[in-house]
Amino acid sequence: MATISGRTFGSDNHAGVYPAVLEALAAVNSGDAVGYGEDAISKAAVARLCAEAGARQGYLVFNGTGANVLALSLLVRRPYEAIICAESSHLNVDECGAPERVLGSKLLAISVPDGKLTPALIEARLSGRGDEHRVQPRVIQIAQATELGTCYSLSELRRLRDFGRAHDLLIYLDGARIANAAAYLGCALADIAACADVLSFGGTKSGALGVEAILVMTDGLAESAPYHRKQVMQLASKMRYLAAQIDALLDEDRWLVGARHANARARQLGAALETVPGVEIAQPIQSNGVFTAMSRDLAARLLQDWSVQVWSESPDGRVIVRWMTAFDTTEQDVAELARAVADAASQLPAPGVAGQTRA
Ligand SMILES: Cc1ncc(COP(=O)(O)O)c(C=O)c1O
Repeated sequence: MATISGRTFGSDNHAGVYPAVLEALAAVNSGDAVGYGEDAISKAAVARLCAEAGARQGYLVFNGTGANVLALSLLVRRPYEAIICAESSHLNVDECGAPERVLGSKLLAISVPDGKLTPALIEARLSGRGDEHRVQPRVIQIAQATELGTCYSLSELRRLRDFGRAHDLLIYLDGARIANAAAYLGCALADIAACADVLSFGGTKSGALGVEAILVMTDGLAESAPYHRKQVMQLASKMRYLAAQIDALLDEDRWLVGARHANARARQLGAALETVPGVEIAQPIQSNGVFTAMSRDLAARLLQDWSVQVWSESPDGRVIVRWMTAFDTTEQDVAELARAVADAASQLPAPGVAGQTRA
């Protein structure tokens, strides 16, 4: 994979780890500590994260797919209950059917151009309620930030929460990029968390080595969590190493500072790419993702050098390419990428004249 600066812009998972996280791992690496989260380090880190989010209980896990499956296992109680989600959600697209396999629950996926569900869209999926031939919606699953880089405003989140309460639907918020959303909205973690019954807090994409947390906001939902976590194979024996990462992210607000930085780099990238002929910004830039529409030829050219994702097809025949920034992306990285995209675009026929040039 040839990149100019060592950056791929393919995912925030391609980024490394905060040195402070590695130091925190080394710092807890002495002597024995009781396993499975019963040690003082783990208890303190979980309590700290819960305090930051206003959560009743917290559970550390290894990865985001496990976090989603565990969270939903607390909310779906019967096999005929279903989960309403966006068609573009990681849950629906990128988890290899883990929720369906492990929970045995049907996902009711709704097509949304910007990755965001609305009460009206959800209401339209409730028509089968009370019909024994239909699954019964129980959970609204949303991501904040969404997989398309957009963010729900706090008022949109509160409307979803109120709608859920009025319609006996629980809300699970996938917070793999909740840091980027908090940075964009300029709000506290607790402001977002208060709109969910259960949420995840993503550490890995925020500069940790590998840790996520499930945070339970609503009374009565946490009792079964320890058992579900074990069953879905997300209970770490050497929990202190997960906890140390959470601690390091909370220290000096690294989770938030890094997300602000990543979001700023995404805005920088968006501003540069929108001046490139043949490249169009396809989604509002509200987190650390930049979605661009471009010709297949230009995308193919860029994929030779950058490990980015062709996210989807655009209705007009172009493709959507996703670029991601991270806590450690520099201004120079972005400038180099923008130059490379401009160079690649300038070497291709101008949009709309491709056929003529080739003939
Ligand atoms: C929104 C969202 N949720 C969950 C995940 C799952 O994370 P993991 O790859 O750790 O399972 C991802 C990963 O990209 C994601 O983007």
